[in-house]
Amino acid sequence: MATYPFPEAEPFRIKVVEPLKMTTREERERIIREAHYNTFNIRSEDVYIDLLTDSGTAAMSQDQWAGLMLGDEAYAGCRNWFHLEETVRDITGFKYVLPTHQGRPAENILTALYLRPGFAALGNMFFDTTRAHVETKGALPRDLIIDEGLDTTVYHPFKGNIDIDKLEEYIKRETPEKIGFIMLTVTCNNNGGQPVSMENIRAVREVADKYGLPFFLDAARYAENAFFIKMREEGYADKSLKEIAREMFSYADGCTMSAKKDGLVNMGGFLALNDEAKFREAQQLLILLEGFPTYGGLAGRDLEALARGLREALDERYMAYRVGQVHYLGNQMLKAGVPVFQPIGGHCVLLDMKRFLPHIPQDQFPSEAFCAELYVDSGTRAIGLGFLAFGRVDRESGEVIYPPLEVVRMAVPRRVYTNNHMDVVARSVINIYERRETLRGMRLTYEPPMLRHFRAHLEPL
Ligand SMILES: Cc1ncc(COP(=O)(O)O)c(C=O)c1O
Repeated sequence: MATYPFPEAEPFRIKVVEPLKMTTREERERIIREAHYNTFNIRSEDVYIDLLTDSGTAAMSQDQWAGLMLGDEAYAGCRNWFHLEETVRDITGFKYVLPTHQGRPAENILTALYLRPGFAALGNMFFDTTRAHVETKGALPRDLIIDEGLDTTVYHPFKGNIDIDKLEEYIKRETPEKIGFIMLTVTCNNNGGQPVSMENIRAVREVADKYGLPFFLDAARYAENAFFIKMREEGYADKSLKEIAREMFSYADGCTMSAKKDGLVNMGGFLALNDEAKFREAQQLLILLEGFPTYGGLAGRDLEALARGLREALDERYMAYRVGQVHYLGNQMLKAGVPVFQPIGGHCVLLDMKRFLPHIPQDQFPSEAFCAELYVDSGTRAIGLGFLAFGRVDRESGEVIYPPLEVVRMAVPRRVYTNNHMDVVARSVINIYERRETLRGMRLTYEPPMLRHFRAHLEPL
């Protein structure tokens, strides 16, 4: 196993600062009420510590900012595109790269290429936008994560792993002709940035080969995944993150990438493929949906910042600091007895609301009740990922489906907050935990038809 110093102090110093507004408790009570108790509806300037997402919220480096000045804004063939293409090929080994403005257009194109009504897409756990893209193609997303991945108490070093037996059983039962593709999300966002082992990725390749199925990675946090492989998997301690990443990608036929995470940019993404015919088809869709294939919805300067950010995320000292900070936050809560999903993942701390607020049933939105309280207590913004986000009514039976996890996610932006900020958050969570019986459930007053947690309105019961 790796003996890399962890957590590592910041391998950077701060050159530019962004002031944060302080609000009073009374102001926050009014703000959350006006936001219909949905933290997505709060203005960012009214938030003190924003842990809503680690997506697109990173601080760029001086090298990335300098790269912006080298933006070539030509419609076709800009130099920054060639830099990005070369970088992605170098890191992933994939032959064809299509730039997109974020992760979901890449998912839209991939699902359009491989799925038809009645097909299934099999994965460890599909992220919500990927799931929605699979469903809008008339196909079924199937999460086949290992059982430990949904147990918030047991330790497993790779809780993002897919269950290989379940995967094979599903393929045999439904027949390979009905499966569009297999996809592993690395790290697995829905259970808290849990990593997938190299052994598991390799095993999926074998299953994919056996049944002639394409296999993709949702690579949004591939560098964090590579770090966990280095730290926890036998045989990888002496390999660089780049070597590990390259091996991970070598087992797949392509990837979707929301570069707003491990690309260390505020906007950007790509789709990478090995299949030339599918790439040609994808290019047509890209032109229709995003733009010409050498900019794909991004400015030349954005492409440059991304090419530079992708390499920075593979720096081991950066990654030891980054994952270390997330663990610094979670460990404080663990020490105080707060039910934290264990082990702590790469980009966030998950609080298990079934154990935190056992008196609030899932259909009374305990996660959202907690998030509202956290905001009022300390101006910290988090997000509920449970019944509101993933609950649904089964198309065939009409039955209400409860997701296995009811969690609050506190995602830490990259290179943005200090450990003093983490202390404030930990104190606030512990404070609420100590008076948890006083929290009440919520009910919906407005429910959008899809991805309802983004725009839903709630009120306390
Ligand atoms: C694992 C994963 N895949 C895909 C996406 C979608 O990416 P984007 O928000 O850039 O469209 C996200 C975003 O959070 C994600 O976490």
